[in-house]
Order: sequence, then structure tokens, then C-alpha cells
Amino acid sequence: MSQYDQLQQTLRAAPKSWLVTGAAGFIGSDLVETLLRLEQRVVGFDNFATGHKKNLDQVQQLVTPKQWANFRFVDGDIRDAAACRKACDGIDYVLHQAALGSVPRSMTDPIASHETNVTGFINMLVGARDQKAKRFVYASSSAIYGDHPGLPKVEDKIGSPLSPYAATKLINEVYANTFATAYCFGSIGLRYFNVFGPRQDPDGAYAAVIPKWIAALIKQEQVTINGDGETSRDFCFVDNVVQANLLAATTTNPAAVNQAYNIAIGERTTLNELFNLLQDNLRRLNPKLPLQKPKYQDFRAGDVRHSLADIGKAQKLLGYAPKYRIADGINIALDWYLKNVV
Ligand SMILES: NC(=O)c1ccc[n+]([C@@H]2O[C@H](COP(=O)([O-])OP(=O)(O)OC[C@H]3O[C@@H](n4cnc5c(N)ncnc54)[C@H](O)[C@@H]3O)[C@@H](O)[C@H]2O)c1
Repeated sequence: MSQYDQLQQTLRAAPKSWLVTGAAGFIGSDLVETLLRLEQRVVGFDNFATGHKKNLDQVQQLVTPKQWANFRFVDGDIRDAAACRKACDGIDYVLHQAALGSVPRSMTDPIASHETNVTGFINMLVGARDQKAKRFVYASSSAIYGDHPGLPKVEDKIGSPLSPYAATKLINEVYANTFATAYCFGSIGLRYFNVFGPRQDPDGAYAAVIPKWIAALIKQEQVTINGDGETSRDFCFVDNVVQANLLAATTTNPAAVNQAYNIAIGERTTLNELFNLLQDNLRRLNPKLPLQKPKYQDFRAGDVRHSLADIGKAQKLLGYAPKYRIADGINIALDWYLKNVV
């Protein structure tokens, strides 16, 4: 039995209280769903900046009424320190996901990214510390590897950030480490690589590549690739990210705390390969979809050329064992988008 299977049994037997910030977003709503299915008590916190009520409505449909009764939603803003402190009251584990994602958004409006991702972050950290949460797990990002050329990425070798977004995530790690030293407050940062799965928003200027391309292919619109398509990413299905959060929150290994971990699969896929994978699988599910050729345009400012994770540290210290490789995840995601994209 894997460490994650064991943990799920333990949690079911003795439910805990969890705070999920960014609960109406993609990763946050997936965390809420899994925790409720495990009979946990969950508080969701979100201001709907980029998240949607429909994500929570969908979670409600997917769990039992009894499990849903264990959920409480707080419509609040992490830029409000008092709201953060209140939300952390009585919480065992904080899973802090709320942030303004997207490199291009931060290039356009670095102040907005700073206010939510840095001021909001320290508000949450102080709230969790003051309310004596047992652990603070937060979403960091592969973006913090910046201009470091090494591949695969290993946690202790980072370069300079290439965007304000990357800078905000790096500052998160600096603050988390400082709170460990200054206040003995334990946290764990999870450097997500490109995450995908059900409920990831396909709409808007800042949509991530997988949902944006799936929606375009379903709607028979042209897909645009930034650069020559040989840019590569370590695409990670969201269930693996959920697993990492639960393992990080509950680890009893002192060496595992106050660390940051790569959370990915450890496999690299180019954008050209991704396009073919999505198109081939979609056309298998719906043979009426026409065969498309993508349009290529300039590289996007602030983007890292290649990204690939060494996940050895998370495997060793957290017992992280990703269950879904890219093709497994893509099939689950495609099924969801076919039912939900109109
Ligand atoms: N999706 C990825 O590939 C990826 C990769 C690396 C890191 N991350 C990080 O993971 C986390 C979750 O990302 P996601 O993909 O689920 O994005 P998302 O936009 O779907 O979710 C973020 C949620 O945070 C909420 N939020 C934003 N500002 C807020 C504020 N001021 N107060 C309260 N709530 C606020 C939004 O409304 C949204 O529901 C973020 O911290 C993001 O930076 C994501």
C-alpha cells in the first residue's frame, strides 16, 4: 500500500479541519473535492478573482450531501489580514492556493500580482501562525527556476526570476523560511510544474495552454503556439498535486518540513507533442472534428524555454508517488472538457 493510500485511510478514521484558499479555483476546488470525499471538515476561502462558483457547485454534485455538510465557504480576500486570521481559526492544516496566476498577467500588472501573491501570502502566514495551525502548505511554482539552465530542475539550484509572477513565488519561499527561523512556524512549499485537469479555466487572456487548446479544438478554432513549438514543459495532472498537498500537510518527518519540493511527473513534453496528443485523443473521441494545423507566433516574454522536474526529493521525503502520467491525465481532462465546454 502506498503512503498516500495509507494516509487516506488514516484521515477517514480521524477527520481533520482544513482551510483551502483559492477554493473556487482549479486546484483549490480539486483539493476541496478530495478532502470532502475523505470525510474531512473543510473551509474554502476565495474572492472569485479568477475562480468560479460553478466549480464549487460541481464539487457539491460530486460528493454526498453528508460530505457537503462538512464544507463551509468564506467569501473573503487574502489581502485582508483580519479575514485571513479569522479563516484560520480552529484549522489543523492550511493549503494556501489563492494567488493571481499567469506569467503574462504579472508582466501587465505586477502590482496586482504583488498585492495578492505577496501581501496576501504573508497575511495567510501570520493568520496560520497566530491560530496555531499544525502546518502551512503553499503553492509555489516552477517559475522560480527562472534563468537557471539546469535540467532537470533540482530544488536547491534556482536562477533569477524572469517575471514578476516568478518573483512573487520566490518571495513566498523566503517568507516561509523566515517564519520557520523567526517563529518556529512549519511550512512546506510545493513548486507545481504545469498543472492540468478538470475545472481548469479555458477562458480569458490568461488561460493555461492545455484548457485553452482543448476548448479551441472542441470549438474548431485555430490553436496558436508561441514560438516554434519545441518549448517543453513537465505537465502534471491535478490529482498528483492533490496527493502532494495531503502528504505535505500531514508528514511527521521533521526533515520534510520547511522545505520546497518539485511537484510534477518528471517527464518533458514539447508544445508540438502536446498539440498532437490533444488533437489525436479528441478526434478519437469525436471523429467529426477536423484535422487542424496550429499557427505559430512569436515567443512570449517572460516564458522559460524548457521545464522538467527532478521529483526525487518529494518522493524521498514526502512519499510522493504520482499516479497519473500525462496521457492518463489528458484522457480524464478531455472527457471533462467535452462535457463542460459549450
Ligand atoms: N495551474 C498551474 O499550472 C500552476 C502552476 C504553478 C503554480 N500554481 C499556483 O497554484 C495556485 C492555484 O492555481 P490555479 O491554477 O488553481 O489558479 P486559479 O486561478 O484557478 O485559482 C486561484 C484561486 O485564487 C483565488 N484568489 C485570487 N486572488 C484572491 C484573493 N485576493 N483572495 C482570495 N482568493 C483569491 C481566485 O479567485 C481563484 O479561485 C496558485 O497559487 C498558482 O500560482 C499553479
